[in-house]
Amino acid sequence: MGKTYRIAVIPGDGTGPEVIAEGRKVLEVAAGKFGFSLDMASFDFGGDRYLKTGEVLPDSAASELRGFHAIYLGAIGHPDVKPGILEKGILLRLRFELDQYINLRPVKLFPGVETPLKNKGPADIDYVVIRENTGGIYTGIGGFSMKDTPNEVASQNMLYTFAQVERCLRYAFEYTRKRNKRKTLALCGKTNVLTYVYDLWERTFHALGKKEYSDIKREYYHVDATCMWMVKNPEWFDVIVTGNMFGDIITDLGAITQGGMGIAAGGNINPEGVSMFEPIGGSAPKYTGKNVINPLAAICAGSMMLDAIGETEAAAAVEAAVMEVTRSSIEDLGAGKMGRSTSEVGDLVAEKV
Ligand code: IPM
Ligand code: MN
Repeated sequence: MGKTYRIAVIPGDGTGPEVIAEGRKVLEVAAGKFGFSLDMASFDFGGDRYLKTGEVLPDSAASELRGFHAIYLGAIGHPDVKPGILEKGILLRLRFELDQYINLRPVKLFPGVETPLKNKGPADIDYVVIRENTGGIYTGIGGFSMKDTPNEVASQNMLYTFAQVERCLRYAFEYTRKRNKRKTLALCGKTNVLTYVYDLWERTFHALGKKEYSDIKREYYHVDATCMWMVKNPEWFDVIVTGNMFGDIITDLGAITQGGMGIAAGGNINPEGVSMFEPIGGSAPKYTGKNVINPLAAICAGSMMLDAIGETEAAAAVEAAVMEVTRSSIEDLGAGKMGRSTSEVGDLVAEKV
């Protein structure tokens, strides 16, 4: 018998539980096939729990979650809870407290999936965005003055320490080396306006690259131009590294070029600790309980999780199974447009694994 991995599952809100159920189905099959086991424990964090108890996240959550090999998250967001409360109180808090300082978001067009980019196919859209995940504007420092008067001032500061920037860049260089494709790391910034923060990023990028990663080619793009090239020439990119806010924005753009929220997955990574894997899309309240939402993004997040815990063969098998399904068995990635139900898609992937 192989290894046993302890996985914390947070199905969360809306369609989260439905897509996580399909992900678990596929992961169990992969575990059986590749000779390891998954010991899953569920946590009920999310909007329903908050509405019932008034507590967003117990203070013990992070320390409890540290006892797991990985965390598998569905979706956070509830129509009856004001925006920001659950996102900040659960998702961002866990990212911060578990020091998941990398957000890893592959932008990969699978066969058979339609992209809105004209004349582009799977050979053109295959890169990874590494988003810094705990700093920048998300640090949450700022405030109001003279609130509710005509002179009101609001601020929200973009803060980065050298240490935050360096550890993120180091991860990105290492990742680019390990990926071993075009060995090109592009820094996405805004050095023409954010002349302090992205100056720090750019200086550190070149210094570290020169000193320790001379095998990796370095490129720089402003964030606005990055958006343009992600649409016009996505084949230019291998790995992109950027700060938190820019990373949030460009990965939604990336996701839509790979077929949208039905397929896009990401990992909140602490390379030295416990990481959390999630479909990028939200809780989709409109589709909740209808068995129409696409579970492939959650399944892909599961594949990333297997890769991160070291079950690389199983991870590759799950991804290959998803590709077979997108190639031949579903019509469209959109909720209700798949020509299949949520659970049928899960069954199909499980079968192919
Ligand atoms: C994401 C989301 C979150 C973010 C929100 C829900 C706080 O958009 O994971 O990209 O901004 O990081
Ligand atoms: Mn986002």
